[in-house]
Amino acid sequence: MKRDDNHDGAIVDGEIEVRLQVNGASRRGRAEPRMLLADFLRQELVLTGTHLGCEHGVCGACTVLVDGAPVRSCLMLAVQAQGADVTTVEGLANGELHPLQQAFNEKHGLQCGFCTPGMLLSAAVLLEENPAPSSEEIREHLSGNICRCTGYVGIVEAVQAAAQAGGGAEASVATTPAAAS
Ligand code: FES
Ligand code: FES
Repeated sequence: MKRDDNHDGAIVDGEIEVRLQVNGASRRGRAEPRMLLADFLRQELVLTGTHLGCEHGVCGACTVLVDGAPVRSCLMLAVQAQGADVTTVEGLANGELHPLQQAFNEKHGLQCGFCTPGMLLSAAVLLEENPAPSSEEIREHLSGNICRCTGYVGIVEAVQAAAQAGGGAEASVATTPAAAS
C-alpha cells in the first residue's frame, strides 16, 4: 500500500493519516474515513486492550478516554480523533498496576476480563470526579458498562477499594509512554 506522509489530513489511496497522542506518546496511523476509533487503536496501533463487544454503543467494552472524557470508541471514527489525547487501558498502569487494576484483581472484579478495560477507564473517570463514591454512585456511573460473567458486586467493591487506596489521585493520568510509530 502506498504511503505518503506529506498528505496529512488528505485522503491518499482512500486513507487519511491520523496523528494523535495515545497514552502520553505521539502516534500516527492510516485510516479509511469510515474506520472506527476502536479498530484504529486495535489494528493500526496494535493496542488490543480496547475490546469490541456490541459495536453499537451499548456494552461499554470499547470505552477509552478522549481528551479526558469517556468515549465509546465503536461510535467514534478514527479521523474524528485527529489531534486528540487518547487514553486506553494500556495507559492506566504506570510501571505497576493502577489501584483500580490492583483492586479488581483482589476483589474478584473480573473473570473473563472482556468488559474490564471499559470498566477500568469508566471507573477511573468516576474516581477523578468523585474520590469517595458511594456504592450507589458507582453503580450509577458504571451502569453503561455491561459485564456478562462476573456480576457487579465484586466490581463495585473493587472501585470502593481503589478509592480507599487513593485511586482517584491517579485515575486521570494514564500516561505510560507507548512506543511511537
Ligand atoms: S463495543 Fe462499543 S459500546 Fe459495545
Ligand atoms: S469479566 Fe467477563 S464480561 Fe465482565
